[in-house]
Amino acid sequence: MKKEQVLRCQLSVWFPLFRQCTIRSIVLPLPQDVTDYLLDDGTLVVSGRNEAPSCSQTNEDSDEEQDVQWSDDENVTTLTAPEFPDFAAQVQEAINSLGGIVFPKLNWSAPRDAAWIAMNGSLKCNNLSDIFLLLKSSDFITHDLTQPFLHCTDDSPDPKIDTQLVLRKWCELIPGGEFRCFVKENKLIGVTQRDHTQYYDHVCRQEATILGSIVDFFKDKVQYKFPDEDFVFDIYRDSQGRVWIIDFNPFGKVTNSLLFTWEELMSGQNLSEGAEADLDGPVFRYITSEMTVQPSPYLSYRLPKDFVDLSRGEDAHKLIDFLKLTRNQEPESSDEED
Ligand SMILES: Nc1ncnc2c1ncn2[C@@H]1O[C@H](COP(=O)(O)OP(=O)(O)O)[C@@H](O)[C@H]1O
Ligand SMILES: [Mg+2]
Repeated sequence: MKKEQVLRCQLSVWFPLFRQCTIRSIVLPLPQDVTDYLLDDGTLVVSGRNEAPSCSQTNEDSDEEQDVQWSDDENVTTLTAPEFPDFAAQVQEAINSLGGIVFPKLNWSAPRDAAWIAMNGSLKCNNLSDIFLLLKSSDFITHDLTQPFLHCTDDSPDPKIDTQLVLRKWCELIPGGEFRCFVKENKLIGVTQRDHTQYYDHVCRQEATILGSIVDFFKDKVQYKFPDEDFVFDIYRDSQGRVWIIDFNPFGKVTNSLLFTWEELMSGQNLSEGAEADLDGPVFRYITSEMTVQPSPYLSYRLPKDFVDLSRGEDAHKLIDFLKLTRNQEPESSDEED
């Protein structure tokens, strides 16, 4: 995989070519101070909130708004998140013009690994602080910001990247309608269920129809139109059988090969062996029985449920137990009776 191939998979590069068959999106340049804020591990304080966090007070007199501050005056903790008023206004305008709810990502990746941290447990956002919370919590986003050319084989210096925030109109996508398509030398060689952890009855039943509509879509709208001959594209087939592009990804190990292996895809040799063989068409892989259902691939990114309940303050009993525990563990607890 070459750096150039990675560059072509940025949404801002492919979007203008496929505007008619993908989800409405707006690309905003990410200012350097916002990028720095996203990469700063020092705090999880989320900027962009309209109201002060309920457990603290904002220091309105502060002239150092870019920094998070802690002070002990009168036992009040003062916390100020950085503000980005111009950027916040641009984001809000974009959200409004996309219908009020958006799906956020950067040049390549969405913060899928952080969905659990959001109040609604999804990537649905309607304001900048929702977006910041997801972006700041995601390892996938850190990858985009710090090592987008991981696994590239060329040793030329890394091209300069203009970091972008991509906002896409929120669409309720049914996971069983999503498929990943592998293209090698401009030929569609493989199609797999995107959600490889579940069995979908309709995929089994409509195998030929689904594959047929994907092949037609590829020939009609994608083949020779994407500026590379090796790439991976993700599609959504809606309830009326229409096909939409969700994303383009590099043909290489940074992209999850799901029900294939990269060895198979790279060599292209063992692909069409066995029952799934079709002389010239792509190989279609999907889960064929409920026995093979796998755990969610994002489980390892989550925190134990107790931590999450505590952080949200949703379970008062857990909070009380936790406070008792910390108190018991403080041998020289102070006199304060708070
Ligand atoms: N506009 C959208 N609205 C709702 N969900 C979306 C939207 N775009 C993508 N998704 C969901 O998020 C998943 C990841 O999106 P994608 O753009 O491919 O990000 P990544 O490249 O990080 O995997 C998709 O498989 C789809 O389920
Ligand atoms: Mg992708």
